[in-house]
Amino acid sequence: GKVGVLLGGLSAERDISIQSGTGVLQALLDSGVNAVGFDPLHEPIESIVQHQFDRVMISLHGRFGEDGTMQGLLEQLGIPYTGSGVMASAMAIDKQTTKQIWLSHGLSTPKYQMIHADTNWAALIQDIGLPLIVKPAREGSSLGLSKVNHVDELPAAYQLAAQMDQDVMAEQCIIGDELTCPIVGEGASAQALPLIKIVAPAANYDYHNKYFSDDTKYLCPTGLDPALEEKIQQLVLKSYQVLGCRGWGRADVMLDKKTQVPYLLEMNTSPGMTTHSLVPMAAKAAGLTYAELVLWVLMNSKL
Ligand code: DAL
Ligand code: MG
Repeated sequence: GKVGVLLGGLSAERDISIQSGTGVLQALLDSGVNAVGFDPLHEPIESIVQHQFDRVMISLHGRFGEDGTMQGLLEQLGIPYTGSGVMASAMAIDKQTTKQIWLSHGLSTPKYQMIHADTNWAALIQDIGLPLIVKPAREGSSLGLSKVNHVDELPAAYQLAAQMDQDVMAEQCIIGDELTCPIVGEGASAQALPLIKIVAPAANYDYHNKYFSDDTKYLCPTGLDPALEEKIQQLVLKSYQVLGCRGWGRADVMLDKKTQVPYLLEMNTSPGMTTHSLVPMAAKAAGLTYAELVLWVLMNSKL
């Protein structure tokens, strides 16, 4: 059978997706899989039909790839694809919907408000405090994200995020350890992989420090207390299950330094697979090579 690796695409995370997809494609070719890349920017999406793919590996990030739209198209075409289905993908791409689901299940996530050009900034700060994070509701890789330390910075932070999405969120900034945790599988048989702790220069894990900095440190094992680590993995597993995710995903978490309470930030349903990415790192700690991880995800593709 022939495998299509969807990469590139139309979102702001296009460059990252090319890195993810190139790595994935190479791993498949090295493993003897008949795989070919498909970039929706360079080929009309209709031509996916002509390729007669038996399966599709989704290495697209962000909108038109990770958000349920591509999943819907593949459902219509009857082509099995990796990762979450239409509904979980659509819910997870949207940080507001994600939080609403988590909160309805009693899972902890930082306090937030959706904001607009005419939001009363003083009242916002009254409600969620400073510093706070402003971000587009449906972006990835920290694009359009600002950390706001002072009320005067809020309008510019809002404008930046609003260029990327009509829905903009202000979120309480949890001070503490930045953690991430991949999950594989589905439903009751889903499993959390080892946690990774991210130590970014000046505590700023932004787009640059995510993909281009060699100064960002990744700790796996994290060095956290094993009982706490287990508790965070359980939280992450639950956060994945309640969104109805399948295949694989990666939850980002902040651990409050003072209270040691973990807060869920978001669920990524098409996690990065670049050389700097974290799912391959955690998989390695669990004994899986990059290629083994890719093959596992691909074999678990569904309709
Ligand atoms: N959105 C990026 C690709 C990630 O979560 O890995
Ligand atoms: Mg993300």
